[in-house]
Amino acid sequence: MISIVGAGKIGAVIAFLCASNGLDDILLINRTKTKAIGESIDIVNSIPDTSQFSIHGTDDYSKLSGSKIVVISSSVSIYLKTRVENLDLQVNMIRDIAKKIKQYCPSAIVLIVSNPLDVLTYFFHKESQLNRFKVIGIASSLDTSRFHHFLSEKFNVPLSSISNTMVLGEHGDTMVPIFSNILINNTPLLSKINEHEIDLITKSVKNYWKELRKYKSRSQFGIAKKTYDVIDAIINSKELEIPAAVVLKGEWGIKDVSMGIPVKINSEGVFEIQKININEKELALLKKSSNQIRNNIKSVQIQG
Ligand code: LAC
Repeated sequence: MISIVGAGKIGAVIAFLCASNGLDDILLINRTKTKAIGESIDIVNSIPDTSQFSIHGTDDYSKLSGSKIVVISSSVSIYLKTRVENLDLQVNMIRDIAKKIKQYCPSAIVLIVSNPLDVLTYFFHKESQLNRFKVIGIASSLDTSRFHHFLSEKFNVPLSSISNTMVLGEHGDTMVPIFSNILINNTPLLSKINEHEIDLITKSVKNYWKELRKYKSRSQFGIAKKTYDVIDAIINSKELEIPAAVVLKGEWGIKDVSMGIPVKINSEGVFEIQKININEKELALLKKSSNQIRNNIKSVQIQG
């Protein structure tokens, strides 16, 4: 069973993708029970006739029992200017959810989507004490798609002509688009771009969600698809290589924070943290990003 905590804009689309692709039974949990039930009775009609799976909505966490995967896409309130706006409230929310998951489905693989992503992944792991490779924050793969999109526009080439695109670090203002490994039609990107252009693209990637918010209240489809891809890899035992947030214990020379780094995922969750070569400047930015996340973690006022 795939359980999704938070049946809002993002959780509902993740549920729709899982249901319409006939992945597994789905449980939608929302603090407003009618919302969870409403989404489930809408989404149930997208389940293929060939599938034996079902979807149910509830506000009862005890129904988590038996979950193979739990996605956390809930939020206490909407943030407007920065993803860390509701830091304390979000951390206290994730700690409550962690206690419930520990109680009802301690062997589940947990995918975190709520913001601030890196800090919540860290606190979820700390509270639940689940294996760190089974607590995965999904966001850097979304940032990577945004980066890829801007490169494709700038060089007027299809996405498929660009390889090795990756964004690492915080899902926030200190995220680090990695330019040094990118090939465009097999030519190194760095031979085609100057520092000013690098800065402009970096800013565009960082500010993508703010631009999007000029037109709609929040993003949903990109992040839902990235989360679905991870669920599909876990359920169908596919190997997936993406940047995602896990708690680091010295990998990349960084510890006691969670942040986006390249990982390999299969049916067990993360099975390898990859080390790739990046240049000195990018490495320094990545350290800076980890320090920013650590400062955010330290600033949290824990309740209870
Ligand atoms: C965004 C949200 C999902 O970047 O953090 O669109």
